[in-house]
Amino acid sequence: MKATAIANANIALIKYWGKRDPELFLPYNSSISLTLNGLNTTTTVEFGGYDQDIFILDGQGIKEGKELEKLVRHLNLIRKIARVSEKAKIISRNNFPRAAGLASSASGFAAFTFAATEALGMSLDSKELSIISRQGSGSATRSCLGGFVEWTKGKKQDGTDSYAEQIALPEHWPNFRMLATIVSTKAKKVSSRVGMAQTIETSPMYSAWLDTIEQDLENVRQGILNKDIGLVGKTAEANCLKMHATMITTVPSIIYWMPATLEIIHSVLEWREKGLECYFTIDAGAQVKIICLEDKVSELTQKLENLGGVKKVIVCKPGQGPKLIKEHLF
Ligand code: PMV
Repeated sequence: MKATAIANANIALIKYWGKRDPELFLPYNSSISLTLNGLNTTTTVEFGGYDQDIFILDGQGIKEGKELEKLVRHLNLIRKIARVSEKAKIISRNNFPRAAGLASSASGFAAFTFAATEALGMSLDSKELSIISRQGSGSATRSCLGGFVEWTKGKKQDGTDSYAEQIALPEHWPNFRMLATIVSTKAKKVSSRVGMAQTIETSPMYSAWLDTIEQDLENVRQGILNKDIGLVGKTAEANCLKMHATMITTVPSIIYWMPATLEIIHSVLEWREKGLECYFTIDAGAQVKIICLEDKVSELTQKLENLGGVKKVIVCKPGQGPKLIKEHLF
């Protein structure tokens, strides 16, 4: 009744922004990401012998608030599917800051779902795992597989066709890199869940976002298969800017960028103009992720570290899907 899983975070090249069904976490658009080897969550789940559910994330007991609600909701979903009622203890550890735009909910819910379903003896395949993980956090769908992953939006109302599929193994493009630059470790003010709902309701740009998404998806699929960094990078950068345009034009406006975020954007554009091939992408937070190939990493890292607002640069390679490990956290 106990299992431990480790799952990697993922960063979207084509973003998911907006739920057509907020209960089942069904998206309006498909998305494509890279599972990263550098940023992960380890989670141990044990069922049985507890009077109440216990959640400890990064050494801190979660006893109230929205975070607890989300975790209990997800645990209840897993208990319902497995037809059990036992309470559980869950201990989870990230090797990077939570809720700061580095996709901790993706690796977090993927590791939680994998460990909990294994502790209950369910042995799910990656499709089933991604369907359940999706209902904890949309982006967690894509952390259920390694390498380059597409989360197909699906059409069905019950969500059984909205899951993750692998486009290419991590070994397909081993010199692809993402540099996660940390400019702020503060939790963001507007969660992606709330932000998406407000965007759909109020941004006049939301329909334009959906209008161009299929072409962006196709370009990035082709770019990955042909290992075309220019096509992947340019499409990902433009897609990120379109998503942020919908956020900025939400009422009230959601601006995740900080001054240091803009400093990196301008620097990337300037470096690229001078021949250093790199592109940026930004999620619902202030951090900027730089897309490049391995031979540009040392020059880019040095340049990024010289910018005033950059606290840390984490170099991420294509990573594997979630794994079970024998060393439990308790
Ligand atoms: O599923 P969430 O709540 O982690 O939302 C993810 C939203 C973005 O990170 C902005 C885009 C994405 O596809 O990961």
